[in-house]
Amino acid sequence: MKLTNLLNFCLLLIVAMPAQAKVENEPDSVFLFSYAHVDGGSGLKFAWSIDGTKWLPVADGFDYLKSDFGPWGSGKKMFRPQLLQSRKDGKWHCLWAATVTGETLAYTVSPDLLKWSCQVYAPAGERSKYAPVDPVPTAERKTMIEGREEDGWMQKTSYATVERLIRFADHKKYRQIQNEECMEQDPVRFAGLEPVEAIVRVRMNDAKPISEHLIGIFFEDINYSADGGLYAELIQNRDFEYAPTDRGNDRNWNSTHSWSVQGDGATLNIRTDAPIHPNNPHYAVLDVRQPGAALQNAGFDGIVVKKGEKYDFSLFSKAMKGKGGKVKVGLVDGAGRKLAQTVVSVSSKEWKQQRAVLTVTADAVDAVLSICPQVAGEYALDMISLFPQKTFKGRKNGLRADLAQTLADLHPRFMRFPGGCVAHGDGVDNIYDWKGSIGPLEARKPMRNLWGYHQTRGLGYFEYFQFCEDIGAEPVPVLAAGVPCQNSGTCSHHSKGELGCMGQQGGIPMEEMGAYVQDVLDLIEYANGDAKKTVWGRKRAEAGHPRPFNLKFIGIGNEDLITDIFAERFTMIFNAVKEKYPEITVIGTTGPFYEGTDYEEGWALATKLDVPMVDEHYYVSPGWLIHNQDFYDRYDRTKSKVYLGEYAAHLPGRPSNIETALSEALYLTAVERNGDIVSMTSYAPLLAKGRHIQWSPDLIYFDNTEVKPTVGYYTQLMYGQNSGNEYLFSAIDLDNRQEAVKKRVGASVVKENESGDIIVKLVNLLPVSVRSQVELDGGALIHPSAIKTVLTGDPKDKQAKPVSSGFELSGNNFSYEMPAYSFTVIRIHSTGNR
Ligand code: AHR
Repeated sequence: MKLTNLLNFCLLLIVAMPAQAKVENEPDSVFLFSYAHVDGGSGLKFAWSIDGTKWLPVADGFDYLKSDFGPWGSGKKMFRPQLLQSRKDGKWHCLWAATVTGETLAYTVSPDLLKWSCQVYAPAGERSKYAPVDPVPTAERKTMIEGREEDGWMQKTSYATVERLIRFADHKKYRQIQNEECMEQDPVRFAGLEPVEAIVRVRMNDAKPISEHLIGIFFEDINYSADGGLYAELIQNRDFEYAPTDRGNDRNWNSTHSWSVQGDGATLNIRTDAPIHPNNPHYAVLDVRQPGAALQNAGFDGIVVKKGEKYDFSLFSKAMKGKGGKVKVGLVDGAGRKLAQTVVSVSSKEWKQQRAVLTVTADAVDAVLSICPQVAGEYALDMISLFPQKTFKGRKNGLRADLAQTLADLHPRFMRFPGGCVAHGDGVDNIYDWKGSIGPLEARKPMRNLWGYHQTRGLGYFEYFQFCEDIGAEPVPVLAAGVPCQNSGTCSHHSKGELGCMGQQGGIPMEEMGAYVQDVLDLIEYANGDAKKTVWGRKRAEAGHPRPFNLKFIGIGNEDLITDIFAERFTMIFNAVKEKYPEITVIGTTGPFYEGTDYEEGWALATKLDVPMVDEHYYVSPGWLIHNQDFYDRYDRTKSKVYLGEYAAHLPGRPSNIETALSEALYLTAVERNGDIVSMTSYAPLLAKGRHIQWSPDLIYFDNTEVKPTVGYYTQLMYGQNSGNEYLFSAIDLDNRQEAVKKRVGASVVKENESGDIIVKLVNLLPVSVRSQVELDGGALIHPSAIKTVLTGDPKDKQAKPVSSGFELSGNNFSYEMPAYSFTVIRIHSTGNR
């Protein structure tokens, strides 16, 4: 049997090889077999063989290349990969079917089978365009690998190639082991470890300026962060625009969601003829045959109201049949108790807005809003809204005060908006168009939120800019680079059929790109343009803010697949912004990981175009953060600056606890050290509401009554409230030389120019204390008093909070014992100051 296989293979080789071809790389040639699992669920794997009959999997079936086509996770498939090495330049070309039907071809090329170029997707018929013309002969065959029959392609190659593959995977596995290090293993890893002695030497006269915007916040409408969250509106589905398509064609998620009719003699219908505005096509028609029945809204998991407080009610209405009349508007709790009541009059035959104030007589967490016409007839109702008057800073159409204050307390230097994936959307048609998020609420364009719900966009660009101003944060809007999310699963209006309708990054058609580029420029004008002389500046003024918002940054793209389609569109937008607004810092994008094709290609494009800053994202384990503290030390100072736009420590089960918070604190000491090239960072995601969570961990959890910051929040808070403008060089010497120990103790010292304060940050990820001597060398005598803030706890602790206390310094040299598992900030007041 074996012999037959071998003979068959030789025959195939002879057929495939040109007459003069010879086997490459003699005398060390071996057979290389490339394949992927037949169900499409794996990446490109290899096996090798000396004789073509007995096969050894390379690196236990390691995936050397994965398909990027299709929606998140298991939606990405690789079927029947064919690997072809060009004789001309030795490059490896891989072609595979990205869909089970085979209609979508995926292609990439590599110099070494390790680094792959960005993937190209094309109709299957275009195969010949991509396959090399002069490949090393290959033969298709079935092979048994570890008891499993695999389909693939076999060819001869040098053993050095196989060895390189093995070494690469070994290195990855070594990294993987490091990444998986966690505190649960500490009793073994640090068995018998005694408290460590440390000297932290700070060179007070050796400083470098660092970014003033290092700590910021990432806002995305995920986990009900906006509607039902930060946006203070209490009525759910106020615009009757919920649609089954918001939520995977869920028929219960429709225009009547959250609404009900209480009592007999009335029916609720949804109509779309003659709406208030075409952007808001659905409205309710309450047909009241017998007065007494009421239309009710249960809010977002109930409406929370407080005794004595006032709530602004408003609605658009018209009397459709009948003369109309008085309509009672009230709040009722779960037990049927009346909490507030007022009356509005609906008699207009045209849409008309009514406003009233409800003053609440008792606390409730389960109130419903009740609208009860007193006269029989047909009433058209839309934009039914209820806001607490106590919003953050009392803004109309404002933000929930307690949540907004929790964000403000972080002292964020910037705020990103509207995401994340929400910025570039699920398919081209779902790209966040900023213009649909401004202007009168009834004319805004609601959107499907790709996290599976609905965005009213009541918290739109105006409210966002206003909030940034209110908390002293620079706005950092992020706009799509003319392409949707690389994990899109939804078809776009123009891409149907082309690539099997997978919704994969197709890009706005080039003929529409001019208008799109103009939209980007218009956003800058909306933020900064003259209130009288510019179109969009005027709109800002009409919204109540004639002064410019002083926008300085704009992000283009969000962890996109870096393809030609992306590069072409990004370049267009980048050049246009650079030309019209050279003062704006454009932030490019480098994919969703700290390595890989998008990261490399994203950086290459940024370098080519001289993009001022790029947005990096990585969600990693605490082990990764511990072992990669030198990540930015290695960065070329002459290239783009970095915005670490999304990051977080992820542990199995995705908790936010002392372990994740301290590993983030440790990594941030390294980021501060590199604050000359890392300009901004933002933990992601920011907010998550009780029972509506799509992504964990988040920085702040909340429900209708409570705000629950995580331990990770306090790491951000301690950094945000203790940022500096200058980094003072420092070095830590430990009496313990073990690598595992050294990597778990970090320090960063900065100076805040405004106050002159010196801020020492000390992080200890060890299970024992670190008795440190801090030496502030060469500086002026410092004030003997300081404030010390310590965050510490058991690694699994999710409730820990920082504790601040006074701290007397003995002089420029002082001792401080870092508790086991702790993050300490010592803020030393400058001489004479305080
Ligand atoms: O932060 C959650 C998501 O993570 C963001 O929307 C996206 O950019 C990233 O993949």
